[in-house]
Amino acid sequence: GNNLITSSNHLRHVDFITNLPSGAGKISHLNAVVLGEASASEQADLVLPSQQFSSQALVPSHQKYLEMYMRSIQDPAGFWSDIASQFYWKQKWPEQVFSENLDIRKGPIKIEWFKGGITNICYNCVDRNIEAGLGHKVALYWEGNGPGFDDTLTYSQLLHRVCQLANYLKDIGVKRGDAVVIYLPMLMELPIAMLACARIGAVHSVVFAGFSAESLAQRIVDCKPKAVITCNAVKRGPKIIHLKEIVDAALIQSAKTGISVDVCLTYENQSAMKRESTNWQEGRDVWWSDVVPKYPYTCEVEWVDAEDPLFLLYTSGSTGKPKGVLHTTGGYMVYAATTFKHAFDYKPSDIYWCTADCGWITGHSYVTYGPLLNGATVVVFEGAPNYPDPGRCWDIVDKYKVTLFYTAPTLVRSLMREGGVSFSGCFLSVYCCFLMIRDGACFYEVILLIAILIFITITQYVTRYSRKSLRVLGSVGEPINPSAWRWFYNVVGDSRCPISDTWWQTETGGFMITPLPGAWPQKPGSATFPFFGVQPVIVDEKGVEIGGECSGYLCLKSSWPGAFRTLYGDHERYETTYFKPFPGYYFSGDGCRRDKDGYHWLTGRVDDVINVKGQGIYAFVTLVEGVPYSEELRKSLIMTVRKQIGAFAAPDKIHWAPGLPKTRSGKIMRRILRKIASRQLDELEDTSTLADPTVVHQLIELADC
Ligand code: WT7
Repeated sequence: GNNLITSSNHLRHVDFITNLPSGAGKISHLNAVVLGEASASEQADLVLPSQQFSSQALVPSHQKYLEMYMRSIQDPAGFWSDIASQFYWKQKWPEQVFSENLDIRKGPIKIEWFKGGITNICYNCVDRNIEAGLGHKVALYWEGNGPGFDDTLTYSQLLHRVCQLANYLKDIGVKRGDAVVIYLPMLMELPIAMLACARIGAVHSVVFAGFSAESLAQRIVDCKPKAVITCNAVKRGPKIIHLKEIVDAALIQSAKTGISVDVCLTYENQSAMKRESTNWQEGRDVWWSDVVPKYPYTCEVEWVDAEDPLFLLYTSGSTGKPKGVLHTTGGYMVYAATTFKHAFDYKPSDIYWCTADCGWITGHSYVTYGPLLNGATVVVFEGAPNYPDPGRCWDIVDKYKVTLFYTAPTLVRSLMREGGVSFSGCFLSVYCCFLMIRDGACFYEVILLIAILIFITITQYVTRYSRKSLRVLGSVGEPINPSAWRWFYNVVGDSRCPISDTWWQTETGGFMITPLPGAWPQKPGSATFPFFGVQPVIVDEKGVEIGGECSGYLCLKSSWPGAFRTLYGDHERYETTYFKPFPGYYFSGDGCRRDKDGYHWLTGRVDDVINVKGQGIYAFVTLVEGVPYSEELRKSLIMTVRKQIGAFAAPDKIHWAPGLPKTRSGKIMRRILRKIASRQLDELEDTSTLADPTVVHQLIELADC
């Protein structure tokens, strides 16, 4: 097999089994599993939004939702045109444009929305809001890695910064349609760089600044950028990461395949590292602060077609070569803005914080474009959410009076676990005990006090902060298990804030299945119902739609404005990967169950691509006959992943698996691998359908070797 691990989100949100290019040809098969699933009984409860919340919500009832939803399905052109008209178009799209382009029932797949319409997304994110009187409104709050480092930009100031950079990029010859790679941490310069590219019609490709030099080089070689924008270094928690060195190595590597980049614009991130100690290649490397501030505060907009490319974002693929997911301008703009507005029930007074990095699609649609298109105030956070302690998120929530908080289940779980012990709490506990013992308290009194203090200490990382500002919570990236959902709801949101569990993908551009807070009761762990214009269907192995209560493969019928248009440079792979598996549908790669009330429950990836986010990666590795398994090999496998993909993707555990539990038809039974990985050996259940049940015993024996 040629299966492997590559990338994904913030923290250790790691995706995918795809190409492990090496182990020097020693691996014949590698498999990985995700731990933890919800039990059926946990999935039954209904959690209702409060009357007060619903009455003020944009979509206040299920009834209203159904009305809007029906229209979006029956008359997509009318529905989306009405919404699109709220944006600025230099020239409106021709009316008849929708008729044939939304059909994905037959190839070749060519999705187009608002084609012929002329607009610019940067103009709509910034200039349009200033014209509407929001010039003095805060666009971005920046919170640094270390507490105390922060900054603010109003919409007017944001425009100035964007224009200066846009002017510089034009000056060095970046033109409409040219690619620019952005390898930056969560500084304000990251959304600024995205917007500057959009302003001049350049195509940005943000690469998460946690990817290795090799991954970065691979992306540079694929999209051949005119420039790379980076910074010298960044601090994540207490650790310093030398980003410029990674870029240097990537540029050496890409030059070997004949792709050279003329300009490496480098931001001096002073809180992490001074410029003097940065490696420098004269002629190619340019300090941001030496050039960009010299440019004017205004820069004319490059008006582009709705179908002109806006950005490329690479996601891992099952054959190893990353897929350059291409999004275009008009449809993406309308979709990112509308999904943001409804899924968070956005009000102009909201302060919004999404913990995702702009290196992922979440940071594109829901840090930069979606919120800014709505004129929202966005918190951009550079650091690690548990640094300097696990209370940091709530500290930030209180500091900026965050009302909408959007994060990933992996973070929720880790904060839930680390609810843990704080130093001040420990100190206080010990001191009180000391006082009591000194004053002659009895044994039980001391025990009682200790118990109370432990309780206070455990919950205080969250409860010592007010969090009163919070209104809506959001979750993305993987199914949120009901116990984490409840903790998020009860403890973080004080049982007051609806949770939008948003199911979507890099490819979909925006939310596909998500609660609309206020419109209907939630079930902990369910993404609930489709967004406007989205028609999810569940199909069986043969691609036949199944109705009612069922489970199967999640597909989508017809197109929606935010859909990706192609895989860069490989339209055939686009069709093969997404539209061929179940003809007539877009195949998501996810499994899904629909319950008797029509709620959707995502069950994870079903293809050879899997999400391993948050809990850790457990890899079953099968070696080529005759190659011995050794500690050295184990280490080198882990190192290989670190080097080829990035440290965040490295497996936590390697389990030597001479054979894998397969059914007679050859399907690997991941359920069994999962149980072995989590050592729930008494829950293996029936293994008699396996082609060779002894494989299981063998695996158990090798578990701790
Ligand atoms: C895959 C897409 C979408 C931005 C982050 C990841 C999983 C995402 C949920 C959710 C269950 C989810 C799916 C999907 N996923 N959100 N709310 N519930 N699963 O983007 O890297 O393109 O990954 O993430 O498996 O296919 P991505």
